[in-house]
Amino acid sequence: METNKNRIVRDIEALSQFTSTPGFGVTRFTYSHEDGLARAYLTRELESLGLAIHVDGAGNMRARLMGSKPEGSVILTGSHIDTVRNGGKFDGIVGVVGALEAIRTLKETGFVNQHPIELVIFAEEEGSNFGSTLAGSKTMVGKYSAEDLKKLRSADGRSMFEMARDAGFDPDSLPRGAFDNQTIKAMLELHIEQSVVLDNAKKSIGVISAIAGMKALRIVLRGTANHAGATPMDMRSDPMVAAAEVILLVEKLVKRIGPSVVGTIGKIGCVPNVSNVIPGEVSVSVDIRDIQQENIDLVLNELEQQVQEVASRRKVACEFVVLGGSKPIQLSQGVVSIIEHAAMRRGYDYMKMTSGAVHDACMFGNLTQVGMIFVPSIAGRSHVPEELTSYDDIKKGCDVLLDALVELSGGCESSPCM
Ligand code: HGY
Ligand code: MN
Ligand code: MN
Repeated sequence: METNKNRIVRDIEALSQFTSTPGFGVTRFTYSHEDGLARAYLTRELESLGLAIHVDGAGNMRARLMGSKPEGSVILTGSHIDTVRNGGKFDGIVGVVGALEAIRTLKETGFVNQHPIELVIFAEEEGSNFGSTLAGSKTMVGKYSAEDLKKLRSADGRSMFEMARDAGFDPDSLPRGAFDNQTIKAMLELHIEQSVVLDNAKKSIGVISAIAGMKALRIVLRGTANHAGATPMDMRSDPMVAAAEVILLVEKLVKRIGPSVVGTIGKIGCVPNVSNVIPGEVSVSVDIRDIQQENIDLVLNELEQQVQEVASRRKVACEFVVLGGSKPIQLSQGVVSIIEHAAMRRGYDYMKMTSGAVHDACMFGNLTQVGMIFVPSIAGRSHVPEELTSYDDIKKGCDVLLDALVELSGGCESSPCM
């Protein structure tokens, strides 16, 4: 049994057309027009397989392939279809198309799975709308309630709750978590690596043993807006220069506490953001990650103390706004070996590794056994239009996902199961 590369190529290429920045990568935020087009495409594909589709109040999509034991615990597999701005066409999509193609292959070959297999498309994984990653999967596992979605705000002040409702979903209907730990047998996510490890090692498959944790916050520095020309330097409380010190501070702390810690300032806000006014307010996004939670905490504790020192020396006020985060998780040894043996049996070059990026799979670590399969990112580029993974490797990743689903679902090649 193996997946069909032509269908995989067709789906990924078709979905990559749903972007608001054609010619400059894929930009497809959750609840956008492009998101709706991608959902419609996938709904048609899933309905043509006879799968019933359920969409929850946040826009998480679920399509279940019933098994011969419909009451059995479910095996989840999937990823996300939303992107960063000017992102690539493989991040998230490979895991969704891989799950779709695995289910298509199971049906095509008459395989009868015992445990139900459910394809999940998580909403708002990237945090592109609200600055908080994994918001859809956090809602699904009960970390976010409908009330919490009212607090997640986009740059133009709209909440996730409002945007979900305006996109036609029903956030008021959100239960406090859609799963309890009896209902999920395993959660598997196929994803591109988004760094250089597999590409450098010339391996096709990454068997993930752990996923890094992260903390995302915004540091807001408030000074006194004033005339750029008439205000002497010794009369300024300038949040922009304070922000410049903070940015270098993040790099210095992370490098000192490293080597596995990474820290990124990806976004700067400035008010009023005109060249002849000393800003009144400057905000910087801070994204700290590591496979060890204590390192993340170390960086943030030191950062808070030292930012306060910078702020008082520069006569500006500072505020720390936590945007979100997720804990590092070790993946289940049982699922790791199922994935490893699947790659081995097929003769695919593989290696064990950890993930520096966070994924929806992280949210299921407390509920069930979790496994992740990576395929290489050429030159390690991701979250950019140049993001590239070979379709040969993507197909190999889909084959390994298929085999892991077959093994976990406990089914057999034809009905009735002997
Ligand atoms: O930020 C991440 O790691 C993921 O791509 N959302
Ligand atoms: Mn992703
Ligand atoms: Mn991403």
